[in-house]
Amino acid sequence: MIDDLPVGLRARRPADEDHLRVLAVLDAWWGGLKGAAGATERALLLPRLYFQHFTTSSFLVEDGDGEVVAFLVGFLSQTEPETAYVHFVGVDPALHGQGVGRSLYRAFFALARSHGRRYVHCITSPENTASRAFHTRLGFTPSAVKPDYDGPGLDRVAFAIDLSAAPGAAL
Ligand SMILES: CC(C)(COP(=O)(O)OP(=O)(O)OC[C@H]1O[C@@H](n2cnc3c(N)ncnc32)[C@H](O)[C@@H]1OP(=O)(O)O)[C@@H](O)C(=O)NCCC(=O)NCCS
Repeated sequence: MIDDLPVGLRARRPADEDHLRVLAVLDAWWGGLKGAAGATERALLLPRLYFQHFTTSSFLVEDGDGEVVAFLVGFLSQTEPETAYVHFVGVDPALHGQGVGRSLYRAFFALARSHGRRYVHCITSPENTASRAFHTRLGFTPSAVKPDYDGPGLDRVAFAIDLSAAPGAAL
């Protein structure tokens, strides 16, 4: 399903049974970003429905022991026929910097393209400097910080990439 992951890692579609397994890693993987409020925010971003109704456009990566080491939850926009959306992505900190995040996005871009999608959008918290650097490195264009974008006090940076213009090397 994704053939350029580091040796020993395997990707598959997530399933209902993976929901709690993914929730269980969020705080550690996000390094406790934004404290207790951040933990609540993250958990609420991944209700079970994503593991039921968005599985064919999402990826779960496990190591040889079957432990979850990365995931990408995305979907094809219902509203914008040229757009796909990455809702949530995470990589085990032990694997950071090894290209796992890039591989997940490459796979999602291929999926988006295969469904005729030209644009990929996503958002992140302004405080998440790693995410902002990662998305910019992959070729996304960041917006200015959008105050209260996701509700009172929930500022966001929005990212967009045009797959038809993105340089192949960045993907
Ligand atoms: C952001 C995240 C997904 C990146 O995953 P990753 O597997 O470490 O990223 P990759 O190794 O594929 O890196 C791809 C590129 O981004 C760059 N990059 C990744 N993390 C970076 C960071 N913290 N600072 C600067 N650049 C970074 C890499 O250098 C690489 O560029 P290169 O190939 O030119 O060297 C990972 O840090 C993560 O899971 N963070 C916690 C969860 C999170 O913030 N998710 C995103 C918001 S929803």
